[in-house]
Amino acid sequence: MLEKIWWKEEVIYQIYPKSFYDSNCDGVGDLKGIIEKLDYLEELGVTSLWICPIFKSPMIDNGYDISDYVGIHEEFGSMEDLDVLVQKCKEKNMKILLDLVVNHTSHEHEWFKKALENPKGEFGDYYIFKEGKDGKVPNNWRSIFGGSVWEPVPNFENLYYFHTFHKGQPDLNWENPKLRREIYDMINWWLDKGIGGFRIDSITFIKKDLDFLDSPVDGGDGLSSVKHKARNRPGIEEFLFELNRETFEKYECVTVGEAPGVPYEQYDQYIGEGGYFNMIFDFKYADIDVENGSEWFRRTNWKSEQFKERIFKSQEVFEETGWGANFLENHDQPRSVSKFIRDEKYRNHIGAKALAALFFFLKGTPFIYQGQELGMENFTRKSIDEFDDVSSIDNFHRSMLEGYSEAEALNFVNQRSRDNGRTPMHWDSSKFSGFTKGDKTWLGLADCKEINVADQLEDKESVFNFYKKMIKLRQNSEYSEKLIYGKFERIETEEDLIAYKRGENIVSITNLGSSKGEVEITVKDILLNNYETLEIKEERIVLEPYQTILVTKGE
Ligand code: NOJ
Repeated sequence: MLEKIWWKEEVIYQIYPKSFYDSNCDGVGDLKGIIEKLDYLEELGVTSLWICPIFKSPMIDNGYDISDYVGIHEEFGSMEDLDVLVQKCKEKNMKILLDLVVNHTSHEHEWFKKALENPKGEFGDYYIFKEGKDGKVPNNWRSIFGGSVWEPVPNFENLYYFHTFHKGQPDLNWENPKLRREIYDMINWWLDKGIGGFRIDSITFIKKDLDFLDSPVDGGDGLSSVKHKARNRPGIEEFLFELNRETFEKYECVTVGEAPGVPYEQYDQYIGEGGYFNMIFDFKYADIDVENGSEWFRRTNWKSEQFKERIFKSQEVFEETGWGANFLENHDQPRSVSKFIRDEKYRNHIGAKALAALFFFLKGTPFIYQGQELGMENFTRKSIDEFDDVSSIDNFHRSMLEGYSEAEALNFVNQRSRDNGRTPMHWDSSKFSGFTKGDKTWLGLADCKEINVADQLEDKESVFNFYKKMIKLRQNSEYSEKLIYGKFERIETEEDLIAYKRGENIVSITNLGSSKGEVEITVKDILLNNYETLEIKEERIVLEPYQTILVTKGE
């Protein structure tokens, strides 16, 4: 798709507000903290911010359990703080994307409280209630965070409510047109307020198979993943068309769908001409280390060749159908250096830069998750009690139910925990890495003095400065046009090398292996290199382990 449009030209920085910067010393990041760090983000060169949920919430799932869609969570600040943030961003030409969580609310949302009082009443129809079967829950579906999707309704015998995720996140009933209207009005309220757009949470779960029948057991807990019957199911297209028509389509906003479970054959419906969203995330290569994103004990022994194939396939599908939201990390993923750099020797600035350039020049809008631009790594914890993330705790117990020992279970969780990406941002080498001047942090962080913003700003060779260079090349250089709109083409190479072309003559090559690798190419200019030199042998080049380069091709 050649159409030029502003959101293709953005570089989006993802902020996990709890962990970005704490301005009032209570151990929790906040909106004023983001405002204080805007100059830093401007220096990096990003053009939009996606801020994870900042709305009122009991924080069971750190804000993905919203109790008031138009109120700000007190620990994060106030609506005035948000207005100031939006205004300051405007002055810097940056847009704000909020997180739109409309598959479910919190169990503390007013609608749900009223629904619980009278499940047969008006608000009962905003959620999904069902009677049990033979004294048991209505079916055998497993929720994403473990256990049944059904939770008993207090004070009503044999009645249950449905939750795809945690029991504190009851699912909204999208079959109800009145509920859908409420959601659309809320979305438009935010867009009228001047928000640049939304990242749309778990949107492929809004349509359930209405037979609510059991599906084949797929785990040691005797349950069956909710994904089989409630993710990207037939009929969802009606909801998504309507959602787009009643809201996004009327504004000049950007929409980024978190749309797990969509097969490539359907990408066209999601992001093609007249599709539901402007772009979606493709998790297929991010999740290469596990067979199924939410079951961390099913680990794979992936090879670079497979990783490369998944990236290339994803790019080719985007090229054909629409536009991709490219990412290496987010708040649900481990740190990329820890996940994708298998040789520990290179889990440092070399490895971080190799991954950075590999992903950043792919076709699509790049997303950078806070701390990724520093090469932050996973934080290994010694006991399950040190984790906050509901999914980590569930995966720990699920692993043991599948027959793994406690030590093995802890190891799976350490590798995959969502808390890896959620530890507070490292601003400097002082106590708590400068995240707070208070005496505590909401989530523990590794004692890591080396990786921090203050030092990296000073160091010309830092990961931060590498990101800054990449952003400049893409946004503001003679190569911008090709790096944003140029066709993606795969280049065949030996296994550990990943090489691709953008436009007629820009080539990105990354060695994801621990040995040297050779590629046949005549290099004209070297635009970027994570090593000081590049070995050139006539019409071939030799890449060092984890070396990455961006070059133009000569004749
Ligand atoms: C996906 C979000 O990214 C994740 O953090 C959250 O737990 C679930 N959706 C449920 O909202």
